[in-house]
Amino acid sequence: MSLPKPHGGVLVSAYEPNYDVTAINKTIPLDAVAYSDLELIGIGLFSPLTGFLGKADYESVVESMRLSNGIVWSVPVTLPVSEKIASSLEGGEQARLQYGGETVGVITVSDVYEPNLSKEARKVYKTEEEAHPGVKRLYERGNYYVGGDIILIKKSDKGVAEDVWFEPKETRALFEEKGWKSVVGFQTRNPVHRAHEYIQKAALETVDGLFLNPLVGETKADDIPADVRLKSYRVLLDHYYPRERVQLGVYPAAMRYAGPREAIFHAIARKNFGCTHFIVGRDHAGVGDYYGTYDAQYIFSEFTEEELGIKPLFFEHSFYCLKCGGMASDKTCPHQKEDRVILSGTKVRELLRNGELPPSTFSRKEVVEVLIEGLKEKEQV
Ligand code: ADX
Repeated sequence: MSLPKPHGGVLVSAYEPNYDVTAINKTIPLDAVAYSDLELIGIGLFSPLTGFLGKADYESVVESMRLSNGIVWSVPVTLPVSEKIASSLEGGEQARLQYGGETVGVITVSDVYEPNLSKEARKVYKTEEEAHPGVKRLYERGNYYVGGDIILIKKSDKGVAEDVWFEPKETRALFEEKGWKSVVGFQTRNPVHRAHEYIQKAALETVDGLFLNPLVGETKADDIPADVRLKSYRVLLDHYYPRERVQLGVYPAAMRYAGPREAIFHAIARKNFGCTHFIVGRDHAGVGDYYGTYDAQYIFSEFTEEELGIKPLFFEHSFYCLKCGGMASDKTCPHQKEDRVILSGTKVRELLRNGELPPSTFSRKEVVEVLIEGLKEKEQV
């Protein structure tokens, strides 16, 4: 086995820090999600995308999870703008992309179009309810989309993630350097609890390396902040993982909470990082009750392994079983519900808020201590 080619065959690279913008007068303001998308397109994490989706690709992705050239792509990456900005733009011209008052990129406008947002919500998120955080964001961001190729001029500040913020070309070099021929990617937006650790290590039994790749882009307000989580990943790796078989690196994309479609999107981005395998467990990228527990696994059967180019590794809902005396799942444990330590996110937050440690059968003590400390500092608990 060897590291996979980037999705679509070529790693996109559109970073030009010295690009001359003096002659470009029009500007488009970016929100945090759009800036993150711009950067991730620019460094090739979203290869083969070379820009924000134009109308034909957008409609094709929404309808059939493919770009108009047939390449698999499951979540639209779009640049929403207001009606006022939309009406000021013309196809073929360039506009500056601005974030926090600075020009961070340029787009060459291919088209400006009015998306059918409720259809996008229904198809991509499987609901039109605004209670869904992905749908809420979709409705809030703007009623017109601007498509076109981009140039990334300014990369984002990396803050506390500086030493673990890698571009795909860097992770690929790292994996090669370590001599890993097979690498499993792990997506998470949560602290790594025992169930996560169990499925990561089960996967690691069969591949050379684990790429622990927590999402640190925009999340919903009640998810644990990324900087606190980062501390918890570092302490966990220090105590419980073999250093030479694990690489920590952040996934700087915004969370979409699009369940099954996002699982495909997540897998493709990890393939661009150089992963050969990708873990999909219970309710991957889900929120509330919008998706079935294993929908994010079933969706992979809609594509061939060749066209995805990364192998999903599926895991059942895992837990600590008191009778088994270890981690297990329905597949491996014959015991009853009462014997199993299963805590909801709400329950865990409640314990942390009261300064109580969730049991070590749920989460490692070192991880919990970091979380309680971190959340206290933010007065979030
Ligand atoms: S996610 O939104 O990033 O998917 P989370 O951080 O909870 O949320 O999950 C990370 C990965 O671990 C996902 O692949 C998810 O399916 C899997 N997972 C989370 N909890 C469990 C569990 N108890 N059993 C099996 N898989 C799990």
